[in-house]
Amino acid sequence: MGNVILIGFMGCGKTTVGLRLSYRLRRTVIDTDKEIEREEKRTISDIFATDGEAYFRDKETACLRKLIESANNQIISVGGGLPMREENRKLLHELGQVFYLCARGETIYERVKDDTTRPLLQGDDPLTKIRTLLNERDPYYREAADVVIAVDGKEFEQILDEIEACVE
Ligand code: S3P
Repeated sequence: MGNVILIGFMGCGKTTVGLRLSYRLRRTVIDTDKEIEREEKRTISDIFATDGEAYFRDKETACLRKLIESANNQIISVGGGLPMREENRKLLHELGQVFYLCARGETIYERVKDDTTRPLLQGDDPLTKIRTLLNERDPYYREAADVVIAVDGKEFEQILDEIEACVE
């Protein structure tokens, strides 16, 4: 397997870190959200609006199962809610080495405040929503992770250095 997996809250930098890491480590990158959008031929927002969150969560588990069959030596970034399912945490562990990009609520808010593509963060008070969800989720991210990388206030290069130093 030997995959490097990036987990963490929406806006913590998984996609950008994944892309940059793929150049550094010369490995291809896969993003579970993009895989699901490609298979479903519609956006995450459309999936949530039409079929609901539970449907999307089942697609995430199915996507992980497929990756277990096919992914070797790749970088895999996963949707922010994916590690909440116990089954998914087990699958992540099977799939490779898991890095949690850990960010504070304020950092996340600054990155996602103008974003309309994340259905869970739409509404009147996204900062409170972020703080609440982050508190709920942080223990699960830590449970799923082999390595925790704190990203607040760091340049991408530093984050990449820290990850690279831990890649097995
Ligand atoms: C979600 C995170 C999103 C996407 C969906 C739900 C979540 O992915 O999977 O909007 O529950 O945290 P990113 O973490 O890549 O934004």
